[in-house]
Amino acid sequence: MLAPSAATGILARLESLEDSFARLMNGKENPLCIVIDDTLDAVRAVIKGRTTLMFGTNSYLGLNFDPDCIRAAIEATQHSGTGSTASRVAAGNHRPHLALEAEIAAFYGRTDATVFSSGFGANLGVISALARKEDAVFVDAHCHASIFDACRLSGAQVSVFRHNDCDDLRRLFAQSAVPGTQTLVVVESLYSVHGDMGDLKAVVAVAKQHRAVLVVDEAHALGIYGRTGRGVAEHLGVEDDIDVIVGTLSKSVGVIGGYAVTNTPALRSFRLLARSYLYTASLPPAVVAAARQAIKLIAAGDSLREALWRNARALHAGVSALGLHLYAAPGPVGSIRMPGFHAGFAFWKALLERGIYVNLLIPPATPTGEVVLRFSTSAAHKPEHIEAAIAAFRDVSRMLETA
Ligand SMILES: Cc1ncc(COP(=O)(O)O)c(C=O)c1O
Repeated sequence: MLAPSAATGILARLESLEDSFARLMNGKENPLCIVIDDTLDAVRAVIKGRTTLMFGTNSYLGLNFDPDCIRAAIEATQHSGTGSTASRVAAGNHRPHLALEAEIAAFYGRTDATVFSSGFGANLGVISALARKEDAVFVDAHCHASIFDACRLSGAQVSVFRHNDCDDLRRLFAQSAVPGTQTLVVVESLYSVHGDMGDLKAVVAVAKQHRAVLVVDEAHALGIYGRTGRGVAEHLGVEDDIDVIVGTLSKSVGVIGGYAVTNTPALRSFRLLARSYLYTASLPPAVVAAARQAIKLIAAGDSLREALWRNARALHAGVSALGLHLYAAPGPVGSIRMPGFHAGFAFWKALLERGIYVNLLIPPATPTGEVVLRFSTSAAHKPEHIEAAIAAFRDVSRMLETA
């Protein structure tokens, strides 16, 4: 606990937050500030002097260590420098940014793609550019923070429907005074905390019925779902009914950045309105070059997808067989509900002591206020990594059962 202080107002509020967090941690190591001392490859890092298998990044395809992506980044840096040092509407609109946009649009089979400097910024820019005060936005309760922040920024009337519950979405339309054509529906295709798939077919049907604009965030699905890796919308055959797909370059693509694709000419205007596009520096040359190479590999990437799915299924089966209940079907993200912070922390720490890193998620990062152990799988994991993770889960669950 912090020593009592005479602070008032904003400082007092922040001190009290620090104090509550310190009490919760009670001298424990902070799972939110774990230090990666060194990164060895896409799935191995050094933490506290120990080589640790990483099951808590979003490098689903291992492309952050792909030799061709690294080479492209080095060459771009040598040729064009380390940063663009300006926004897209000033001196930061370089030929490779346009090439990346054209390649993303072609990959999705859409007419237009806009690249942002982060996935967070893509949601922020797209949603706040499309919706205004006189409009409504209906959002799934489990959507990412960037979507909720975007809704707030738009000034529109925001309503939240129960997670994946299209009856609740229908209720919002029925009760809304705003016409369907002035309503934006925003969902994700693979929810990042629990790893469950959005009910896109049902959402599409409701949005279509009301002629609402539908935005789907495919951040965790790019390169993993669908015949050509375009995501869950492709997997479920509903791509043509989605007005805007938003995605990120920071997960399966292995760099940083975000994008939005559309076929609807009127929706392209978010380039003119999105403040997170207009007022921030564009992506550095290395990032653009690596992203272009990664998207090429994803487009040609059956073997990467197969490796990811082989690993994800094996890990899901192994962990489930221990009697641990996973929220969702096998996929790149696995998630286990913990019976509170202290139990979750004990599990997380014991896994780390056995050389396995996973994420410990606590509110407000979890949508329902629970504590969750979240793990992710990569195409870069080897069979022995998956076996080591399952063995550690077995060991820790037995140890905590008998504790
Ligand atoms: C669903 C979703 N959308 C957007 C983002 C933000 O992406 P980025 O971290 O690339 O800014 C995330 C990040 O975790 C996410 O899970």
